[in-house]
Amino acid sequence: MVGHVDRRLPAGTRSVYGIDLGTTFSCLARVSGSGEPQIVPLADGAQTLPSVVLFVGADDYLTGQTARQLARARPDDVCSLVKRRMGDGDWRFVTRGAAWSAPAVSGLILKALISDATLATGEPVEDAVITVPAYFGDEERRATVLAGEYAGLHVVDVINEPTAAALSYGFARFEIGGRRTLGGPGTVAEEVALVYDLGGGTFDVTVVELADRRVSVVAIDGDHQLGGADWDEKIVLLAGDRFLTEHPGAPDPLDEGDSAQALLLAAETARRELTDAPSTTIVVEHAGRRSEITLTRDELEALTAGLLDRTVALTRAARDAALARGVRGIDRILLVGGASRMPAVARRLEAEFNVPVELSDPDLAVARGAAIYGEKKALERLVLADLVTRGQLVDGAGVDAAAPADLDAACRRLAEVLGLPPTRVRRTVEVQVVNVVSRGFGVLALNRFGEQGAVFLVHRNDRLPVAVRRSFGTVRDDQDAVTVYVVEQAGGVESTRVEDNKVIAEAEITGIPPGFPAGSQIQILFRMGFDGILEVTATHEGMADRPLTVRVETSAALSQADVAREREQVARARRERGGIPGAFGAPADGRSRRASGVPTERAAPAVLPGSADLADLADPADLAVPGDRTSPVGPARRAHPASAADGGDDAGLRLRRLSPPGAGGDPPSRRRRAQRPLRDLRHPAGRGRHARRRGGASPYRRGLGVLAARP
Ligand SMILES: Nc1ncnc2c1ncn2[C@@H]1O[C@H](COP(=O)(O)OP(=O)(O)OP(=O)(O)O)[C@@H](O)[C@H]1O
Ligand SMILES: [Mg+2]
Repeated sequence: MVGHVDRRLPAGTRSVYGIDLGTTFSCLARVSGSGEPQIVPLADGAQTLPSVVLFVGADDYLTGQTARQLARARPDDVCSLVKRRMGDGDWRFVTRGAAWSAPAVSGLILKALISDATLATGEPVEDAVITVPAYFGDEERRATVLAGEYAGLHVVDVINEPTAAALSYGFARFEIGGRRTLGGPGTVAEEVALVYDLGGGTFDVTVVELADRRVSVVAIDGDHQLGGADWDEKIVLLAGDRFLTEHPGAPDPLDEGDSAQALLLAAETARRELTDAPSTTIVVEHAGRRSEITLTRDELEALTAGLLDRTVALTRAARDAALARGVRGIDRILLVGGASRMPAVARRLEAEFNVPVELSDPDLAVARGAAIYGEKKALERLVLADLVTRGQLVDGAGVDAAAPADLDAACRRLAEVLGLPPTRVRRTVEVQVVNVVSRGFGVLALNRFGEQGAVFLVHRNDRLPVAVRRSFGTVRDDQDAVTVYVVEQAGGVESTRVEDNKVIAEAEITGIPPGFPAGSQIQILFRMGFDGILEVTATHEGMADRPLTVRVETSAALSQADVAREREQVARARRERGGIPGAFGAPADGRSRRASGVPTERAAPAVLPGSADLADLADPADLAVPGDRTSPVGPARRAHPASAADGGDDAGLRLRRLSPPGAGGDPPSRRRRAQRPLRDLRHPAGRGRHARRRGGASPYRRGLGVLAARP
């Protein structure tokens, strides 16, 4: 299909590849000419590429299996598990005179995947859907998009890994060779599956309702610092201890980079072996001594029981959240992620949840599902354009808004142009992914006691799209400006404490004319579309029809200057193929070191803790906007913060979830700003008087001089 499409319709109809950018392994898939999602083999014939980068010069790198194998000789030049650093703007891998951010290192992995795929398919890889753990927050998602852009990709979308796995599973289960295989002819079968995804570095659990061509996410939970690598670490520590017991007085193998690397590799191999065998041997060689350590599966399971417990607790939480949302129960558990192969996983889950547990293509399902979704996006884009051109659909509407006959005709026309069976186009376009909010989002505010904290407007597992409005009020008479800090839940549960949240954006209403008393209403509206992009609108009651000066700042991971430099750096980087002398040739310079703790070019995020600027005194009953929560908010557009900063097309403050760095964000400023607090209107007891009375006692106010500005 692909070559065919490219020849006839060069723009907008290329394959959209699905890429699983994994913590330990990555892979890439596309939908074949016959409509099946297939893994694209890599240059060495493997289906997955170890997500490991070995730097052999300032601009030269190796990746994949070779990098992994050579890691022992160059521990200071090897970067692995970089996905765990995504979204951490201060982290750099510094080696051989160059510093690499997490998106830049990931960009190198993607470049390697792309070049192998281009060799295999003979076509350029330009458009891709990249998968992310469901539990990834805003900055991690943006970092992933940036990694794709560094590698020269147009990232069509990011999709949650478990959702992609469920799509792939649903594809295999509901449609093999074009026939529906579940529920029989004419029936629409549905089942509720819990996707347990234990990969190399992240754990995601997702409850989905599955039907033919449809995946509806009901609940998600997870921990992006939990995966096979943690099991390996336990083994490494045990092996190190046993080595030291056997050789008292010997130096600790974990203190030396190459021995520690070797031990890590051996631990991972041992763990895989214990999936099939009851016992295995780990060889530790260090400082001229050698130990052969026997490890049994029972020992491994005892050693790592606490890790498995953590996954079970999160699984239970997701199950309970789904039940609370009206799901009738879990029909089966799907295991994805390579580490879910460990026999203890299925055994424990069967015992805990008493439903069938199925290992479902654990290494490749995610990339396959992303390819299915990518094809859907590619064909849908064309069908939509056709319908809009014919005046059968308004611009921005989804395919489900089209009249069935119009949609059918558009699919037929496209099928003809592309030389595809019409049913395939129709069914691909019909693929539907219904998602939920992955984290709570809110604003920083002062409560009725004058204490600052996060007030959440949307919550994890709220079904998308969502729209919630809430009223706040100014604190002072004649308050002329208001700063709004948008926060994202940082931990596993929502917490009102400022330090448990991450400020993802900040915006400001300025130029409020004098004459408004304390308690003037500021309405804040959060809307999140199907794509999970948050849009925040804030309006001062007296200024709904007046243009406002709005400035949007971000605590985004990288400044524009960083992004421009790194784009160039990744583009320049040359990938060496395995076995090249350069891998051992040039000695690492003395400054090579692991990145954590290395000073970086960028300092603290723009928003400093303690600078909350809204007071919330609202009654929880006021929160929901009746009818608003469930009504579609239309396709959210990614907006340049710069354009939002122009004052926007609407009256009121308008601030959108910020584009990936490089797409036009202002460089973050680090100055502490003056305080312009708000409080809620709806609590008469809290109006003005209350806030003022309490004001002096609040550490926030004391510390930041709000009292001085008080009337
Ligand atoms: N047979 C096996 N037994 C046990 N563990 C295995 C087996 N095969 C692979 N693994 C483990 O699976 C993990 C890799 O899984 P996978 O490729 O799904 O993760 P990933 O996509 O790199 O990570 P993530 O999804 O967390 O980003 C590694 O920790 C690896 O050791
Ligand atoms: Mg994975």
